[in-house]
Amino acid sequence: MPTVTTEGRSVQVDPGTRLVLAIEALGIDIGHRCGGKARCTTCRVAFDAGAPDTYTRAEYLKLQDAGLLAAPDASDPVRLSCQVLVEHDMTVRVLKTKQTEGWPDTGPAVGPDLIPEPERFERADLEVEVAAG
Ligand code: FES
Repeated sequence: MPTVTTEGRSVQVDPGTRLVLAIEALGIDIGHRCGGKARCTTCRVAFDAGAPDTYTRAEYLKLQDAGLLAAPDASDPVRLSCQVLVEHDMTVRVLKTKQTEGWPDTGPAVGPDLIPEPERFERADLEVEVAAG
C-alpha cells in the first residue's frame, strides 16, 4: 500500500485514495471548502516527493486560473489534493488548514470518488488543449 507523509506523520492507504482524505486520516485539518470539486484550491499541497505526472482537466484549469500552476520542472509543485489519487508514496506540505485560515470547519465532507471527472491527463496534452482554446 502506498504511504503518504506530511508534517512528520505517515499513513498507508489503499491505492486510489484521494490525497485529501489520506491527509485527513493523519488528523490534519486540511481545507476542502468546495467539498473536493476542484473549485476552491483550499486543499492545495506542495509536493516534496512523489508528485503525480497526470492531472484531471479540472485541477489543471483551476491551478492555472488561480496562478498556482508550477513550472513543469518545479521541485515542489502545488497540487489540489482533492484531485490527486494516491497510487505511490507521496510526501507533501499542507498549505491551508482550519487553524491557519481561521475557518469554523474544513468544509463539506469529501467523498471517496474523484469529482468532477475521473479521467486524468498528461500535462503536455492539457497544455496543447488549453492553447488551442
Ligand atoms: S479544490 Fe476545493 S477541495 Fe480541492
